[in-house]
Amino acid sequence: MIISGQTKVAGIFGYPIGHTYSPKMHNAAFGQLGLDYIYLPFQVAPDKLGQAVESIRALNMAGVNITVPHKQKVIPFLDELTEEAGLLGAVNTILHKDGRLIGYNTDGRGFVSSLEADAGIDVCGKNILLIGAGGAAQALGISLATAGAGCISIANRTISKAKELADRLKRAYNGSDIHYLGLSGKHLSDVIGQADIIINCTSIGLKADDNPPISTDALHAGQLVCDLIYNPAKTKLLEQAQLKGASILNGLGMLIYQGAAAFEIWTGKKAPVDTMRHAIM
Ligand code: ATR
Repeated sequence: MIISGQTKVAGIFGYPIGHTYSPKMHNAAFGQLGLDYIYLPFQVAPDKLGQAVESIRALNMAGVNITVPHKQKVIPFLDELTEEAGLLGAVNTILHKDGRLIGYNTDGRGFVSSLEADAGIDVCGKNILLIGAGGAAQALGISLATAGAGCISIANRTISKAKELADRLKRAYNGSDIHYLGLSGKHLSDVIGQADIIINCTSIGLKADDNPPISTDALHAGQLVCDLIYNPAKTKLLEQAQLKGASILNGLGMLIYQGAAAFEIWTGKKAPVDTMRHAIM
């Protein structure tokens, strides 16, 4: 990589930031396409977020990714939001264009792309169960509804949060078939049995000895069970789903495709997805 006076700078703001795979992924992609860009990690403390965002303009950067804990708090510092980011109230990508800072959210889109590319699934008309109602579940709910999911059920420990997300999706996607429920009971087991796609959007499974967030008794062949967690690569949920004959998908593809979408927003070029995947494996 040769840095010149022309090199465009992108990066990621987070706190902490030491664990991120994004620099490897994006620098490999810039190298593959011979683009004169560099991508750097920036540890941005919460009380410095406004100054850091203003520096995108001051330093004439191409744009940045935004990660935990800044995805919501960054919004007041931006000039514009895409419809998706506005609906979600969270931003993971900023484009600096003609002096303006535009906030995008590519997380949900990244997951839908991974479903298509890695699992060969078109979500249109599918019966989907989301487990969890936090930021990740919201991003997926919006993108899955946009992509034409037939029915979305949201199961969460705190049922009021599941209701809140279901109500928001119903308002945004008038007429969509959207339901909410708790994380246990016979009704959940019926919903699990009827779903085409089941997606864990909670943090349960991050620890290798975490039990699955739901009972896996009703899982069966013909279903796709997904976990947004990619480390461990196979959570107990995925392990047990596979034993039941279901297909499985972890969150690595979502990480890659959300990055690919950000890459395309900054460069206008098609992202070299295989290079990005190889860089973080
Ligand atoms: P993210 O942005 O990654 O989605 P989040 O917004 O903090 O993170 O959401 C975490 C999700 O995991 C929530 O749905 C949370 O359930 P609650 O709304 O009831 O808190 C879920 N979650 C986390 N730990 C859990 C646990 N031990 N059991 C059940 N659900 C859990």
